[in-house]
Amino acid sequence: MINESGRIISNLKIASNIWRLDIQLPQIVAKRPHPGQFVELLIDRSFAKPLRRPMSIAGYTADVLSIIYKTFGEATRILTTKIAGDFIDVIGPLGNYFELIEDDYSTPVLIAGGVGIPPILWLHQELNRQKQKHFLIIGARTKAEHFITPDNENTLLTTDDGSLGIKGTVIPVLKKIISNVVGTRIFACGPEPMLKSIQKIALATKQPAQLSIESHMACGVGLCQGCVIKRRNYQETEHSYQVKYVLVCSDGPVFKAGEIDFD
Ligand code: FES
Repeated sequence: MINESGRIISNLKIASNIWRLDIQLPQIVAKRPHPGQFVELLIDRSFAKPLRRPMSIAGYTADVLSIIYKTFGEATRILTTKIAGDFIDVIGPLGNYFELIEDDYSTPVLIAGGVGIPPILWLHQELNRQKQKHFLIIGARTKAEHFITPDNENTLLTTDDGSLGIKGTVIPVLKKIISNVVGTRIFACGPEPMLKSIQKIALATKQPAQLSIESHMACGVGLCQGCVIKRRNYQETEHSYQVKYVLVCSDGPVFKAGEIDFD
């Protein structure tokens, strides 16, 4: 884990409420981050906003790290005001990442929604690079929130209002793929209700699934205990905090579907 002051290369709006931030961070990039990992940004140095904000990494080139973020609240609004040449304090890379197991011939199904899009898009690029056939499903509320153009027939966009792609959520699309393809493995990142539904389907159909959880994170390194979630199937007789709970920041953010309990 590195703490580095990065020079902003660009900070551009790419869709409704969605921005792409490129930061020169040679030391963090030298750690070769993986899809699923994140960084913590110190957006504002004032006493009013002392906490860092977790942001998923969307990829990197040479010594520049990319982040795609959604604006909600004051901190991300301040982030949109940063311009090329400004410096920002960053800690990373943090957390674990999606595991691509060699010699696994099942078909990857990548699913993203909301702020979960960056790591999934990056994984999609990685699988394209490896020439691995896979499906990519990206959900949004409306057309204005989509910012990618499908690069083949296995990239499927959904919108709640039907203004682009398939009308509805990503869930019916996932069900259809599972029923048509023998052997899939799921990689998902997005809002909790979406992950909860995917977890249910994955467990019911016995498809392996890795879910990247979004959580409020103050420290990002396992100190504040602010990102706790329950484990599934822990034994009541085991009186251990570590047995009953996991920390999204340091045990995750990527978990197997059978590991965690959203309720
Ligand atoms: Fe502090 Fe996870 S964010 S323990």
